[in-house]
Amino acid sequence: MMSALEAPLPEFLTADVPPDARPAKESTLHLAPTLPALSVKDLAVSYGNRAVLRGVNMDITAGHITALIGPSGCGKTTFLSCLNRMIDLVPQSAVSGKVTLHGVDIHDRGVVPLMLRRKVGMVFQRPNPFPLSIRRNLEMPLGELGVSDRTELERRVHAALVGVGLWGEVKDHLNKSALALSGGQQQRLCIARALVLEPSTLLLDEPCSALDPISSGAVEDLIAQLRGRYTVVVVTHNLAQARRIADEVAMFWVVDGCGALIEFGPAERIFKAPQHCLTCEYICGMRG
Ligand SMILES: Nc1ncnc2c1ncn2[C@@H]1O[C@H](COP(=O)(O)OP(=O)(O)O)[C@@H](O)[C@H]1O
Ligand SMILES: [Mg+2]
Repeated sequence: MMSALEAPLPEFLTADVPPDARPAKESTLHLAPTLPALSVKDLAVSYGNRAVLRGVNMDITAGHITALIGPSGCGKTTFLSCLNRMIDLVPQSAVSGKVTLHGVDIHDRGVVPLMLRRKVGMVFQRPNPFPLSIRRNLEMPLGELGVSDRTELERRVHAALVGVGLWGEVKDHLNKSALALSGGQQQRLCIARALVLEPSTLLLDEPCSALDPISSGAVEDLIAQLRGRYTVVVVTHNLAQARRIADEVAMFWVVDGCGALIEFGPAERIFKAPQHCLTCEYICGMRG
């Protein structure tokens, strides 16, 4: 079976057709996991007349976990929301620079933002399941994708819940409200809701910071298990967590009043031998 990283992305980005209806094509792009999944070139963002990010360059490796760290207000959420064009929904936002997803410019006129967001899913700090049953939380996005066959719906719901380690906990309560789940279970359901759309990439904005330590651990374990199957970009204030799960770390800071990427590299190097003094002070707990 083709993994999410090998899916034919350009078609997903440009055509609003259910994946099952797409004919297999010889030209299907098979993506080597070593290629950058996302390539960001000279990204700058402002809200109104206030510049909040500038000069960001980053190659995000397919199948890796990239952690974004840095103090509040340095533009981590803004950066994340540029990667699937959620930023387009923010009034007064202006973005310049280039972001490519597996070689496709996400600002290309042919790219349908809704398609892009299915391939590049996003999960937020506060679990936000729909006020519906556990089952409907997953069936609804599938319905929007055009999946209506009952057997296929059940197969995908089952796979998504198994994938986030929730199946055993909820299989007898699928018709109960998702809001009755614990915070950690709700967050794993939100990750399942993104995964059910078979994305290549997941953007996670402080996914554990509203959770108790046990739930946070379960979500962290889940994120670690996504490595290799999905490209994961995760914002975290928990440096120990970044150290445990990240392959690469991106350190943001406010420089001259504007957010900037001040250091980026393999997690091991960033934590053992940071090159920027601010990174060093931040990870030692002296700043930020
Ligand atoms: N919708 C918005 N409108 C105006 N300013 C915003 C908006 N969202 C964030 N900002 C500002 O942009 C800067 C970066 O914010 P954000 O990306 O949320 O940083 P972080 O996630 O690192 O805390 C902050 O100064 C914040 O106040
Ligand atoms: Mg944020």
